[in-house]
Amino acid sequence: MKIVLAYSGGLDTSVIVKWLKETYDADIVTFAADLGQEEELKGLAQKARKTGASKHYTLNLVEEFARDYIYPMLRANAIYEGQYYLGTSIARPLIAKAQVEIAKKERADTVAHGATGKGNDQCRFELSYMALAPELTIIAPWKIEAYRDAFPGRAEMIAYCRKHKIPVEASLKKPYSMDRNLLHISYEAGILEDPWFDPTTEENKAMFKLSVSPEDAPDKPEYVELDFAKGDCVAVNGKKLSPGGVLKALNKLGGKHGIGRVDLVENRFVGMKSRGVYETPGGTILMHAHRQVESLTMDREVMHLRDSLIPKYAELIYNGFWFAPEREALQALVDNTQRYVTGRVRLKLYKGNIITCGRRSKYSLYDENIASMEGVQSWYNQDDATGFIRLNGLRLRARHLAKQV
Ligand code: ARG
Ligand code: SIN
Repeated sequence: MKIVLAYSGGLDTSVIVKWLKETYDADIVTFAADLGQEEELKGLAQKARKTGASKHYTLNLVEEFARDYIYPMLRANAIYEGQYYLGTSIARPLIAKAQVEIAKKERADTVAHGATGKGNDQCRFELSYMALAPELTIIAPWKIEAYRDAFPGRAEMIAYCRKHKIPVEASLKKPYSMDRNLLHISYEAGILEDPWFDPTTEENKAMFKLSVSPEDAPDKPEYVELDFAKGDCVAVNGKKLSPGGVLKALNKLGGKHGIGRVDLVENRFVGMKSRGVYETPGGTILMHAHRQVESLTMDREVMHLRDSLIPKYAELIYNGFWFAPEREALQALVDNTQRYVTGRVRLKLYKGNIITCGRRSKYSLYDENIASMEGVQSWYNQDDATGFIRLNGLRLRARHLAKQV
């Protein structure tokens, strides 16, 4: 048996390496994806080997993540339950895809992950494995009773590492769980489980890593200009950047001005509600800016149709159906709507706010002559409006006549 494990080098996945090796007498290959989490990935290969892995892969997937996952999602203006920018959800399919590729290369028969049996991540990992490599066996230790019995808490995990000489940092566990990548940081569990707990107070605000509190942000607003081409941001303040470069630049800028924090209670795919706190500085700016270019260049009916599909598209990503035919079909529609979403937006960032200060495009549908009340317009005749409204009001009049109101 040969297992490829999604590995971070933290306490959880370190224990899993050893446990899998012992329990299944298996050859373990570990894999860590660099998705812009800015954690130390250098010592990981050594650490994995010391823990019992026969081989380790660290892959830098930052640009692929930005270009092929985050950008397509932003074209759709995807947002889950009106608030969540899907930073963790969108990362999982890419991790799973890279993991499956390693499994094929290594001729492994099994893939494993360290997500719990209670959350969304297990769904995203396993649905992606199934879509991409249905023949692989999946092991999720947290869903195996013997594993849960062996490790009821952190103390047992630390003792297990000591016993097996597994290197673990003696760092104090944070009182919440974090997941970081190029798009966001999520914070949940622990003290955050109380939906009334306030992480923004003076004593708690050190939790936030990507942004300052709006009240601590500079007193002076800062302008930023973004260029979009076919729905994708391609330049910041006139400087051409790769998708990864755009996100890095805007994370910094947004973070400085306290932009992109949300605190919400969301519905997990597995049924329970969960409280999450998120920082998505760059993604929030991009979504806002993208909307501005669309407002100028997108046909009304196309926009309303696409908008009607946002909840569904976001739900597919949230639930783990990135590699599913319905997501691909929606993506084709979304991408088609973006053909003329090209132009420039000017924004002002100020204490947590994104203020739109202008937009322009060579494909603008906005015609000052049509909109203004002056001048001779051959396409818009005010007399037409009388009949237009009369016909639209016909059924409202009929309803009243029929005493339905
Ligand atoms: N609730 C968010 C989501 O489902 C964040 C999950 C965080 N995951 C984690 N392993 N810490 O996308
Ligand atoms: C986990 O349960 O592993 C993290 C939270 C989630 O996936 O929703």
